[in-house]
Amino acid sequence: MEKRLDEISIKKLMDAARKASALAYPSVSDLKVGAAILSDDGEIFCGANIETPSLLFVICAERVALIEALLSGKRNFRAIAVYSPDIKNISPCGICRQTLFEIDQDITIIMGSEGKSLIMKSIKELLPSGFLMPE
Ligand code: THU
Repeated sequence: MEKRLDEISIKKLMDAARKASALAYPSVSDLKVGAAILSDDGEIFCGANIETPSLLFVICAERVALIEALLSGKRNFRAIAVYSPDIKNISPCGICRQTLFEIDQDITIIMGSEGKSLIMKSIKELLPSGFLMPE
């Protein structure tokens, strides 16, 4: 089930993702992406995409934000917002979907692109039948 989010949290989270996108390091694609994840206890952690010219390393904004939160001890989340001023229909890649699903099967994803209304989906909508390790 999608976790409940009020309008203020959605706006705050998307604002944080928008600000984070300015810190992106997209040295190859020149496409800036920012993300902000909201923990169950109300803290926000931000991330932005990082690329290296060798193309041996690229990490998406969503996973940078998630790593920040995990390293602060957070394990449960309400939502993650992702925003790009450069990509028309921003949507998390397969690796990010699987990573988010493994950590929290009920997280909501809020997607924002310049000049478009926000799209909100549950991780289960974005990744039906996601893989989980057997218990
Ligand atoms: N990217 C993200 O950071 N998040 C997404 O949801 C989609 C794509 C980044 C990865 C790469 O640095 C650039 O956008 C182009 O794919």
